[in-house]
Amino acid sequence: MSIRFDQEKFIIETKNTAYVFALYDHRFPVHLYYGSRQQEYSGEIPKHYRSFSPYYEKYGMVFSPDCALSECPFFGHGDFRTAAIKIRNQDGNSVTSFEYENYEIIKGRRTPNGLPFAEPDENTQTLIINMKDDLTGCKLSLFYTVFADADIITRSFTLQNQGTQTVKLEKAMSLTLDIEEGDFDYITLYGGHATERHYQREHVGFGMQSVCSRRGASSHQFNPFMAVCEHTADEDHGLVYGFNFVYSGSFLNEIEKDPNGRIRIQTGLGEENFGFLLAPSQTFDAPEAVMTCSQEGLNGMSVRFHRFIRQHILPKDPIIPRPVVLNTWEASYFDIDQEEMLRYAKAAADCGIDMLVMDDGWFGKRDDDTTSLGDWFVHKKKFPNGLAPLIRQIKETGLKFGIWIEPEMVNPHSELYQKHPEWCLQAPGRELLLSRHQLVLDFANPEVIDYLEDLFEQTLGDLDIDYIKWDMNRHMCSVASPALPAEQQDETSFRYMLGVYRLFRWFQNRFPQVMIENCSGGGGRYDLGMMKYSTQIWTSDMTGPKQRILIQHGSALAYPPCVMSCHVSDFDGLTSDPGKLDFAFRVATGGVLGYEMKLPDMPENVKETIAAQIQEYRRYESLIINGDFYRVHNPVDSPYYSYYFISPEKDELLAVCLKAEAGATEKLTMCFQVPEDARYIEEATGKEYTGRALKEGFSFETQPEANAYSLFHFTRIS
Ligand code: GLA
Repeated sequence: MSIRFDQEKFIIETKNTAYVFALYDHRFPVHLYYGSRQQEYSGEIPKHYRSFSPYYEKYGMVFSPDCALSECPFFGHGDFRTAAIKIRNQDGNSVTSFEYENYEIIKGRRTPNGLPFAEPDENTQTLIINMKDDLTGCKLSLFYTVFADADIITRSFTLQNQGTQTVKLEKAMSLTLDIEEGDFDYITLYGGHATERHYQREHVGFGMQSVCSRRGASSHQFNPFMAVCEHTADEDHGLVYGFNFVYSGSFLNEIEKDPNGRIRIQTGLGEENFGFLLAPSQTFDAPEAVMTCSQEGLNGMSVRFHRFIRQHILPKDPIIPRPVVLNTWEASYFDIDQEEMLRYAKAAADCGIDMLVMDDGWFGKRDDDTTSLGDWFVHKKKFPNGLAPLIRQIKETGLKFGIWIEPEMVNPHSELYQKHPEWCLQAPGRELLLSRHQLVLDFANPEVIDYLEDLFEQTLGDLDIDYIKWDMNRHMCSVASPALPAEQQDETSFRYMLGVYRLFRWFQNRFPQVMIENCSGGGGRYDLGMMKYSTQIWTSDMTGPKQRILIQHGSALAYPPCVMSCHVSDFDGLTSDPGKLDFAFRVATGGVLGYEMKLPDMPENVKETIAAQIQEYRRYESLIINGDFYRVHNPVDSPYYSYYFISPEKDELLAVCLKAEAGATEKLTMCFQVPEDARYIEEATGKEYTGRALKEGFSFETQPEANAYSLFHFTRIS
């Protein structure tokens, strides 16, 4: 049993962690502990009161909501720190208060309506804490879903209006973790288009620290992942809490350290760009937030997240092994047609590539990015015979076939917009702002989704496709829906995401054999919501290997390498330099390998190199897709990015050290987490090592030149 209720305390145990909270006077859930199962913790609710902190007369000056560690803090009723739930009631104020009513422990989980969620396994259990508010008649249920083997607990809530008056949910945070005290840092991933997910580590200071997206997408700018760790924690040591959000729209991550040193961490939808009206008998389901706790530093957190995402979030791989793709975008842009595609196919097949992906430019009158989004029918001039014969010919070369779509968008220059200008997000009386010449379709309007389902059925339904790249190339402003009444306009952003997930599910059900790769101008929606529906994500439009290192390092902190789609391109003409081409390949094999260059026009030696690269990648591929990933040297603080993949059985290990800049030779040491009594052989040198020696440190000399790498492949021999 991973959940029990024992002497007024709820105890949730995973393989390595314990999470404990208690009820104060059977009314208020108060947090006690989250950490290692081995560690002692006090089971007592601390008696806290400070001057200027409001208290209940009944308890006197020993308990104040402002001083307690809370499982779910409410707005405006005695806790001055940031709140999780804020509800505007029938009286017009938003003073919010719920009290504990009862609990349930269920096998499995409750499935949130229309939202992505972590798939349960046979051991999954959920603790439900039901709370009530007599004033509004609302019932709040807090969910703690436990994935014991993965050391993950997820949090979410539902709010049911069981009263007689309409209320409005104005702030919704799915997860709160209050920490009593400590010297902590927080880690977030920031960036922009082509610079996604750069690592940032800062000290948690007094006051509010937060990252968020107000863009209607989880965004390139700030990722929903966040970690809070002991100031002294490093890759392999120290206490680390990791958080994430199974959602792809705007979000808010908060850390507030009060002047007494207590830290409140929250993840959720936030309050900007959000509000939800609940009429009597209506229910709101909040998206799921995910947390883990590691005593083994940042690697411990990453490995837990990676395994959890592979086992409980990602769809089952429709194509095994994952295809090495050749994508047309970086080389041909909109300049594709029947003949060009066949040239690509021939060159790709000759090199041992598995799939050709026809990117943007195949539909409507799409000859550049000013037109045709929304017109999802074949570009007649480029493909006079339609796509079916083209796909047949591509398949004759032995390749699979993939296609690009961007269903959420519309260009004003399109047939769809001419017919349905009311189908895009827009605020009456406000000028429409364009981004990449496009507008956002109103996915809060179910009619729009119905229409797209029909249209994609007509265009793609009979085609023999294996892969879809689902793109999204602008962020939302004027977030208002012509389909919703005035009082529900704040729901637009959330309802939009429900519409997106509905269409994803339609594609998944309609094309179960098709692998979906998600993309948003590169990695602008690199989040757990998208990972529920996409096998992999296009990591970034930046394909320069040096720049990629920082992007891939940040991405792999929170997400497994098997989702990270990495293409070797002709960035800065690198294919004309064998050293650079080799380095680009080494960087790309930190994730799922692909290519994005004008392969038919490449010289023979480049084609031969690529064919050899693919063969080499095939040897390590299953380690990259299914293995555990550990960082050793961090490219933020050192000139090196070194890491290793290790198979779940610990019988194979691939260690890589990348160095983009030139610099003096150095002796580096990597320590591997392998069984001490095992023995390994390193492939290139044939040298044998004990597990113990590899654990204590494997040393090697780096090379002085730029774009250098070292690679060691160990196999267990006993
Ligand atoms: C985005 C993607 C690219 C490509 C273009 C097509 O920028 O990230 O890979 O698909 O759109 O317009």
